[in-house]
Amino acid sequence: MNRQARRPVAIAILLALPLLLAGCELGPKETTQYGPRGTGMEQVVNLNIKQDPGIPPPSAYQLETREGQRAREIYPELKVLGDISVEEFGLLMANITTWVVPADAPAAEQGCNYCHNPDNMASYEKYTKTVALSMLKMTQNINLNWQQHVKQTGVTCYTCHRGKAIPEYSWSFEPDEDQTTILGNKQGQNTPVQAVGWSSLPNDPNSYFLGDREIKVAGRTLHPGATTNGIKDAEHTFGLMMQISGALGVNCTFCHNTQGFQNWDVSRTQKMSAWHGVRMVREANADYIQPLMATFPVNMGRLGPMGDPLKVNCQTCHQAQSKPLGGVSMLADNPALAELGAWATVAPAQTPSAVIAGGTVRTTDGVVGAVAVVPAATAALLADKVQAIRAAAATPAG
Ligand code: HEC
Ligand code: HEC
Ligand code: HEC
Ligand code: HEC
Repeated sequence: MNRQARRPVAIAILLALPLLLAGCELGPKETTQYGPRGTGMEQVVNLNIKQDPGIPPPSAYQLETREGQRAREIYPELKVLGDISVEEFGLLMANITTWVVPADAPAAEQGCNYCHNPDNMASYEKYTKTVALSMLKMTQNINLNWQQHVKQTGVTCYTCHRGKAIPEYSWSFEPDEDQTTILGNKQGQNTPVQAVGWSSLPNDPNSYFLGDREIKVAGRTLHPGATTNGIKDAEHTFGLMMQISGALGVNCTFCHNTQGFQNWDVSRTQKMSAWHGVRMVREANADYIQPLMATFPVNMGRLGPMGDPLKVNCQTCHQAQSKPLGGVSMLADNPALAELGAWATVAPAQTPSAVIAGGTVRTTDGVVGAVAVVPAATAALLADKVQAIRAAAATPAG
């Protein structure tokens, strides 16, 4: 390129530079105001990147009555779904197949055979059936015990799976890389990942979704010394908040009033919903997914690099919608997913053995938890911890 030709190029680059540096997003926006004018209580949505909630597949057919012979009378080995009618049971199996079995499953594993040996439907020789049983309990538990979050809308397997055996969005522990450099421990910062909006915030937001890592950071009194949390904790909390916002496709003011991020009185009710959501996710991971660690096959993409199963966060269900699937409920056609089967009274929840088993969560603060199964005695202690999570889930304190 000669000098003459270079000049217009240079000028064009110079003119474009402010646009790039300003980080402005071009294109149409949609603004919704939630609070009094001037308080910044609004949502700004970029219509160019707004995502479609998607349309759930229809039920195989409509169930006309829930009367009739109970499934247990024909299949005495049922553990969860024995109390519904044979017909409803068959319908649910058909729907589950649509929701979970991948369209490209190998021929021998297509349809019902993804979980069943066709010659012995009662057998648990395929690991997928064991997993599905725990998933059934998890789904029922969410729909019944977490209505403060999922309301009457509820969830089905489809909310997470969307026609795939492994949901598109999940997380697992990261290998414990040596974070200490000559400049010190960088606390997961300056390693931008999508989860925290490519910012330089700590990149470990998922560590809040197993166990009970404290999210609150603001001081509750006038005296700054009264809180043990420092700026470092605040940065981790902000990383989590970036992830939550992205998962729901919203801005901070969807839940908070910037007048006081910690203040429940001036927050939107959505903040309360999110608070329950965090506890619901912790329980799903601790009681229903983490204990499947030994069930999943290795080297098949079912376990993360540390050997723990792929777990749930907000994005697993929400997928950039403030309500998953745009708030559409699929429970009317699948009522059994919103009832506690006999399992709940006979054998309450699962032994939370692996709860925090996979344990102390690895945080970028260097708290490292080996992902290992905990001995029975410790498991009993952990059970208390789960009770504590549940009890604490009743109301937020402070
Ligand atoms: C994603 C895994 C999965 C798929 C796919 C699946 N099932 Fe099931 N099926 C289960 C689970 C889990 C149970 C046990 C439920 C319980 O104990 O309450 C079960 C139980 C059964 C039983 C009772 C077996 C017995 O005697 O105990 C029958 C029959 C059955 N399924 C039929 C089907 C049919 C037909 C299809 C295909 C339309 C199908 N299933 C697809 C997971 C699956
Ligand atoms: C809250 C989200 C969520 C819901 C609801 C959910 N699942 Fe899952 N499911 C997961 C995640 C995450 C995994 C991946 C675990 C892994 O691979 O380590 C999974 C894995 C599975 C697998 C193993 C698939 C494979 O190929 O290894 C089966 C089978 C399954 N789920 C069945 C079900 C069924 C049946 C339901 C409804 C009764 C259901 N799931 C509801 C999150 C969910
Ligand atoms: C979907 C709702 C939701 C969104 C969106 C959200 N937050 Fe939060 N935020 C919460 C909840 C719930 C808590 C309290 C969690 C807890 O105590 O367990 C919280 C806590 C906080 C705290 C700590 C307050 C305290 O009590 O010490 C700060 C700071 C914060 N959020 C900032 C933000 C910022 C900044 C954004 C945007 C990047 C954001 N939040 C987006 C729900 C949300
Ligand atoms: C198991 C699926 C699932 C997971 C995981 C999940 N949610 Fe939800 N969430 C729902 C459903 C379903 C609704 C819709 C309830 C309704 O109809 O009002 C909802 C609603 C909400 C709402 C209210 C939205 C509104 O418009 O009023 C907020 C806020 C929210 N979720 C935040 C979260 C956060 C934060 C997380 C992660 C900590 C999370 N959710 C994880 C299923 C889920």
